[in-house]
Formats: sequence, structure tokens, C-alpha cells
Amino acid sequence: MFDLPSYLSVRRMQVDDYLDRHLPAASTRPAVLHEAMRYSIFGEAKRIRPILCMAAAEAVGGAATSALRPGAAVELLHTYTLVHDDLPAMDDDLLRRGRPTCHVKFGEANAILAGDALLTMAFEWLADCIAPMPHAPTALIAELARATGSSGVIAGQVEDLAAEGRASDAELVDYIHFHKTADLLRAALRMGAIAGGGTSAHIEALSEYGNRIGVAFQIADDLLNATSHRDALGKNTGTDAKRGKLTYVAVHGIDESRRRAQTLVAEAKENLQTLPGNITPLAAIADFVAARKF
Ligand code: IPE
Ligand code: IPE
Ligand code: MG
Ligand code: MG
Repeated sequence: MFDLPSYLSVRRMQVDDYLDRHLPAASTRPAVLHEAMRYSIFGEAKRIRPILCMAAAEAVGGAATSALRPGAAVELLHTYTLVHDDLPAMDDDLLRRGRPTCHVKFGEANAILAGDALLTMAFEWLADCIAPMPHAPTALIAELARATGSSGVIAGQVEDLAAEGRASDAELVDYIHFHKTADLLRAALRMGAIAGGGTSAHIEALSEYGNRIGVAFQIADDLLNATSHRDALGKNTGTDAKRGKLTYVAVHGIDESRRRAQTLVAEAKENLQTLPGNITPLAAIADFVAARKF
């Protein structure tokens, strides 16, 4: 019987260990920067993107460990988006991963620079990854850059901020969730498939899965912000309503948001059926995405 909690915990330890061994020591000059980078990375985090990256490699019949470095690079990039997302100019949040946010602890300028450095380091790590045949050596870099630039995650962040206080708009909240969140989850999966030697048909199937669980993941984030507690999440709750964020909950209400997340997860599991490797972890992660409590 597959046990998702132990699978997640084993993978999380592998990812944490990799990050710890490869990030510069906190004492490396300038120490304040490397301390801020490590502080932001090593809070209580799920590591869902590197875990998806490794599970995608398994699902195409490759070795999960082939996707460890690419997955860790995605986690660096994800952490940069969180550090910047929390800044006063953006969501102005005080708690992240169970600790005061990076700018609260290290000051705004250092938080901006720590985010910049995590983003840059992500691509440095990818530059010496191998994308086995049939992929170009630069395929991993291209995937991450495409998903997170001005038509990807950053586009979603711009529209998320612009939509604060705006009237209910179902098309707009779909756009925001697709880009600010699904783009990066999908990229993690595609990169895992590339590292595991998957074909373009496998990559496309995982993209469909990623688009669906990506949006479901952000719907769950909206639901938790409205219904959970800071001790469970390691970040403050009720903040979306306070800022007038255009969330799934604001547009569709709690019950319809839950239903929509469940439908997306069911569809995502269908997208896995043509893959040649072990799809059990990805199927279980899909269920976790909608049902998660943290
Ligand atoms: C938070 O991401 C930002 C969203 C896209 C919802 P996670 O919920 O994956 O946060 P960590 O990485 O576990 O802290
Ligand atoms: C985070 O979205 C998405 C990115 C940082 C790209 P949110 O602002 O909704 O996430 P939380 O709730 O602060 O983690
Ligand atoms: Mg935000
Ligand atoms: Mg936020």
C-alpha cells in the first residue's frame, strides 16, 4: 500500500539535504545575504514543487534522483517569489513558513536582494544539469524561464496586485491562478519529465496534469486563507479578504471552490493514465493538493 505521508517526508528530507549541501554557508560574505537566503529556504516548507519534479521523472520511467537538482532549482525560484510576494509593496505579510518574513527579519533591501540571488542561483544550478536525449541541453533552463517570466508567474503576480479591490471576475481569477501558481507547478513537472528522459507526449500529459493541480493548489490556498489558522499554515490567515484580493473564494464562494478543486483533481488523475512509469505518487499528490490542511 502506498503511503503518501511517508513518501512526502522521505522526498522532503532528500530535497532539504540537497539544498543544505549546495547553498552557500550562512557565513559566506556577504553573510547577511546568505543568512537571509537560508532563512527563507529553511522555514517549514512542503517542497511540493521539487517533489512533483522527482515524481514526474518516476512517472516517465526515469530515476527520481535525476530530477533532484532541477527540483531544488525550482524550489530556489519558488522561494524568491515568496520573499518578494511578502514585501510591503506586494502582499505586505509578516509571517511565512512559520517565521517572521524575510523583510521583517533582514530589512526590505536585503529581502529584495536575497530574492534576486535565489532567482539567479536557480539558473546557475540548472546550467550544469543534464537533459538527456531527446532534449536539448538547455531544455531545463528554457522551461523554467518561460514559465516564470513576464507571460508566466510574474504576469500572474502583476494581475493579482492590480485586481485588489476589484469587482468579482471569474475570467480574471482563472488567469491569476493559472499564471501565479499553475505555471510553476507545471514547469516543475515538465522539468522532471525532461530529466527522466520522457518523450514529448509524456511531457504534454504532465502539463495537462500540472495545469489542473496547479489551479487546484491555489484554490486550496485561497480556502485555507479564509478558513484555517496561522498555527496550521505558518502564515497569517484572513489576509486575502482584508486586502480585497480577487480569490476563488471571493468570486465563487467556499462550497463551489471546494467542488471546483475536486473536479480539477479528478481530471488531473485522468491525465496520468498514458504515462509509462510509476504514477501512484502523482495520483496521490493530486488528492493531497485539494484536501491539504497546510
Ligand atoms: C505558497 O506555496 C504560495 C502559493 C503558490 C500558494 P506553498 O504552499 O507551496 O508554500 P511552501 O513552499 O510550502 O512554504
Ligand atoms: C503566491 O500567491 C504566488 C506567488 C508567490 C507567485 P499568494 O500571495 O496567494 O500566496 P501566499 O498565500 O502569500 O502564500
Ligand atoms: Mg500574492
Ligand atoms: Mg501572498
